[in-house]
Amino acid sequence: MSDTIDHLLQEKRVFEPSPEFKAQAHVKDDTPYREAEKDRLAYWEDWAKQLDWFEPWTKTLEWEPPYSKWFIGGKLNACYNCVDRHVKNGLGDKVALIWEGEPGDRRDLTYSEVLEEVSKFANALKKLGVQKGDRVALYMPMIPELALAVLACARIGAPHSVVFGGFSATSLSDRIVDQEAKMLITADAGWRRGKVLPLKATCDEALKNSPSIENVVVVNRMKNGEAPIDMKEGRDHWYHDLMADASSDCPAEPMDSEDLLYILYTSGTTGKPKGIMHTTGGYMTGVYATTKWVFDLKPEDVFWCTADIGWVTGHSYIVYGPMANAATQVMYEGAPDSPSRDRFWKICADHGVTVFYTAPTAIRAFMKWGHDLPAQHDLSKLRLLGSVGEPINPEAWIWYHKNIGGEKCPIVDTWWQTETGAIMITPLPGAVKTKPGSATKAFPGIEAKLLTDEGKEVEKGGGYLSISSPWPSMLRGIYGDPQRFKDTYWSKWDGIYFPGDGCTRDEDGYFWILGRVDDVMNVAGHRIGTMEVESALVDHQSVAESAVVGIPHDVKGTAIAAFVILKDSAEPSDDLEKELKQHVVEQIGAIARPEKIMFTADLPKTRSGKIMRRLLRDIAEGKTLGDTTTLADPTVVESLKNRYEDKEG
Ligand code: WT7
Repeated sequence: MSDTIDHLLQEKRVFEPSPEFKAQAHVKDDTPYREAEKDRLAYWEDWAKQLDWFEPWTKTLEWEPPYSKWFIGGKLNACYNCVDRHVKNGLGDKVALIWEGEPGDRRDLTYSEVLEEVSKFANALKKLGVQKGDRVALYMPMIPELALAVLACARIGAPHSVVFGGFSATSLSDRIVDQEAKMLITADAGWRRGKVLPLKATCDEALKNSPSIENVVVVNRMKNGEAPIDMKEGRDHWYHDLMADASSDCPAEPMDSEDLLYILYTSGTTGKPKGIMHTTGGYMTGVYATTKWVFDLKPEDVFWCTADIGWVTGHSYIVYGPMANAATQVMYEGAPDSPSRDRFWKICADHGVTVFYTAPTAIRAFMKWGHDLPAQHDLSKLRLLGSVGEPINPEAWIWYHKNIGGEKCPIVDTWWQTETGAIMITPLPGAVKTKPGSATKAFPGIEAKLLTDEGKEVEKGGGYLSISSPWPSMLRGIYGDPQRFKDTYWSKWDGIYFPGDGCTRDEDGYFWILGRVDDVMNVAGHRIGTMEVESALVDHQSVAESAVVGIPHDVKGTAIAAFVILKDSAEPSDDLEKELKQHVVEQIGAIARPEKIMFTADLPKTRSGKIMRRLLRDIAEGKTLGDTTTLADPTVVESLKNRYEDKEG
């Protein structure tokens, strides 16, 4: 990590917001920071008042660490705030979604059309027995029906749980079982890099171990029979059949501010993912506010967040935040290099995208593919760029600024998490000067600090990132596991949230996020627990023990390296290596495929039995300690460990 710190702290370039950008920006100076500091609750109340409430709240905040309640007694509906109110306010004909499928098919939906389709689908869900409070799992490609289904669940008060379409059948059924979801919504298949992603077939596999699911709804994405599927009589229903005779009259259910809006699973330091819970009033307030100010969103903008709705970024900055702001958005199904590596730039040009939000791993891939690709397209409408998911290296920041932003677009590097619900540390683009690689300052109303292990504040230098007071969109817990909630986030310091990231602060108080300090890897912007991959490997019949570490990767940021001790009955071989990688893919999903597997007879452990991960990382990266191919020799690890300890000592 010290390499990263040295590297980042050499970064001295500063970019002021241009006078033109500032002149038109929602926030032009530091007034909101001062106002939020003066009266944090009044500030958040001002935001909450910009939503439509069926009944007002009576108390703003109840804080009994680690539990917070916001806008107590208030009644509202998230879907109503994203759709109905805009139609009521005369924006029915405004385009909500400009959707492009990977093969080039296209569908535009206005807010009125969204209202119509969401209401019908909400009625269809009700008809299939889904009631307020029932959990609904979604496993879908990036098609409009995914956004519509999410909103339909919110409309009737059924918490949704979207599972990213790249996860395996096992991951899907684990998530269904954990929350006892009653319904599963999927599609026959989706397109990814020209290939058919057989989602329904994966669901069928998952459904063998998902006894709580009563009904399955299937969207017909493949219009030309590219993905024939089995439909189980009585359990599986085509979306279009349900819609054909559904009424479009379905008033939005008044929900309590603290009613569960969704559960989204994310990896932690154990093998089992955590079901992060978000409720209605506070979450909607947080995503509404941050979308408006961080992306400086105006009625005429065309916003494009390239994330998948299967991740929190898609929940907050495709569905809820932008739609609560009545945005016009691009939604794209497929890969950035399909059919060619300029697909994103073609989409930006074709639809006149003005605000573009993507991840550093994508930017690094674009850099590799060359600056002549974006140069072939008209990107002149772009006025603001965003980054999320991992620290953005200054080279990638500068490349993005030059080649995508034409040196005129501010870049907002936004730090947040599944747990925080909304963006927490970010520049406000008209008010805050940026430095490549720094997420700059806490959003107004967010209290971020750096602390030492003992909870002492670090004003300048390195420490742990912390959030010291509650915020509206914070997680309300881990589904079914209050103890894990306390242990993971609230046991390091008293009543202070611990996100799990290391960070430094510079002389201007800017935050430079360094990455996870726990056993969680950030692979291409996706969080994967080392234990999760280890459990998947140990699940294989030939594996006795394994240890997984993250190693640097030029595009993914981090790649997965696994050390594996085989059972006596098995022999190391290239075929077995392939088989183990495939086994991890089947257990978790393609995002968790190890880059490298090293067979070893032993794992270096400290005297207390803790695996020496730093040593493993050095070995995996081929740093100093010699020939990794000889690891199977039982004495090798021991001698490496000794040399390592000598060197350290
Ligand atoms: C972890 C959260 C938030 C949506 C995407 C990921 C890392 C996220 C940044 C950033 C440095 C970042 C952190 C965080 N992270 N954004 N701008 N700079 N690091 O959500 O899967 O919940 O992961 O991603 O390590 O803890 P997530």
